[in-house]
Amino acid sequence: MEKPVILVIEDDENIKTQMKWALARDYEVFLAGDGEKAMELMERERPHLVILDLGLPPHPEDTSEGMRLLDRILQNEPNARVIVVTGNPDRSAALQAVSRGAHDFFTKPIDLEELKAILKRACYVCTLEAEYRELQKQLEQRALGEIIGSSPGIQEIFAIIRKVATTDVPVLITGESGTGKELTAKAIHTNSIRQTKPFVPINCGAIPENLMESELFGYEKGAFTGAHSQRKGRIELAEGGTLFLDEIADLPLSLQVKILRFLQDHRIERVGGRETIEIDCRVIAASNRDIKKLISEGLFRDDLYYRLAVVTIHMPPLRKRREDILLLTKSFLRKFSTERGRPRSLSYGAIEALTTYEWPGNVRELENRIRRALTLAEGSAITPADFGLEAVQETAQPLDVKKARKALEIKLINMAILKHNCNISKAAEDLGLSRPAVHYLIKKYNIRLEKGA
Ligand SMILES: Nc1ncnc2c1ncn2[C@@H]1O[C@H](COP(=O)(O)OP(=O)(O)OP(=O)(O)O)[C@@H](O)[C@H]1O
Ligand SMILES: [Mg+2]
Repeated sequence: MEKPVILVIEDDENIKTQMKWALARDYEVFLAGDGEKAMELMERERPHLVILDLGLPPHPEDTSEGMRLLDRILQNEPNARVIVVTGNPDRSAALQAVSRGAHDFFTKPIDLEELKAILKRACYVCTLEAEYRELQKQLEQRALGEIIGSSPGIQEIFAIIRKVATTDVPVLITGESGTGKELTAKAIHTNSIRQTKPFVPINCGAIPENLMESELFGYEKGAFTGAHSQRKGRIELAEGGTLFLDEIADLPLSLQVKILRFLQDHRIERVGGRETIEIDCRVIAASNRDIKKLISEGLFRDDLYYRLAVVTIHMPPLRKRREDILLLTKSFLRKFSTERGRPRSLSYGAIEALTTYEWPGNVRELENRIRRALTLAEGSAITPADFGLEAVQETAQPLDVKKARKALEIKLINMAILKHNCNISKAAEDLGLSRPAVHYLIKKYNIRLEKGA
């Protein structure tokens, strides 16, 4: 491991030399006698630790110069750990420095053993903080809003979401049932400047054709029997925000024309109304059907398709991103366990069943099976039977050798990591591999290391 870098700011030549001798074995030491030199070394060497004598020239008799330098250092490098030294047994200056952001202090004359102990502790804190920052970064990479995933497939989706969220273009989201289309639409909305305005979903397949038009466009009083008062439609309710046209492929042809017109001029008329209303909303559509095929069969208008699909996002099925299965499982277990107040772990058999199953219903199916398992599980560990996944294993094995090898490698590594609570050396021993080989595979398959239950 590389030695931690330390900068000693001290005007007394004797003390400087003494410190250099005492610390050189464990640290890479740089010395500065005044503020200018200190800032130059801060920039160049980015030290983890700084020892700062508060009594510096041109006013070695008071702490004004030292305090000023402390502020500059922390402004420049907020993560640096600064330990201040005062010649004055009066601790008020030291305490003032700590309240301004110094990590610790000690008073002259310098006791080298005490100094070493303080530095060691500061170094430890530095490492913890760096690890914490790294973890935080990894967490951010593994989730966007409510969407969780570390696979390259989902990471690509995150990148597209971030990009399109800054624009107003229509987006079409395709993908099998349960892959997270609605979640993605919501993520685009919540990452856009429209986030404070409504996100209005409408399922184009769930409402009978004769009611759909008034549901979308609203109606005026007396437009039809039963229209006792004026009512706004979903499009109008989405003013300023985002309209989510779910299952767009189920929209009848007669309404496809009307939606197309709205997309062209952003205006609507309520059913039975004469007034034209201008609407400002973003439109996102989703479908799990093959729209191109529907176009060729004359069931979907191609002009509407091209209007909607300015950007297309295709959600990969869960079986194509098996790296995400255990990550999602852990997240759902945590979410539902707290609802039921019973923490549960997974048996090895359950991990095997989850990671090899084909997941035709994708994430929604996984979520449902976990809910079911938490209700059914008797012991402290959840078994494949609790997921209802015993009988399916045989057929779930892929025949393709490459795919089977990948699935097996992911499964075995996950099992070993779980068994040894992320201790890679022990996991490698169990797997009969070298540590670098295990690290390589963890990286290759994007396997998540998470300590604890
Ligand atoms: N990547 C993910 N991370 C966390 N939860 C997810 C993820 N993908 C999907 N889900 C969850 O799975 C369920 C299904 O997601 P969603 O409704 O967005 O899918 P869909 O593609 O719209 O499905 P359908 O075609 O059936 O309407 C939801 O409960 C959602 O919260
Ligand atoms: Mg949906």
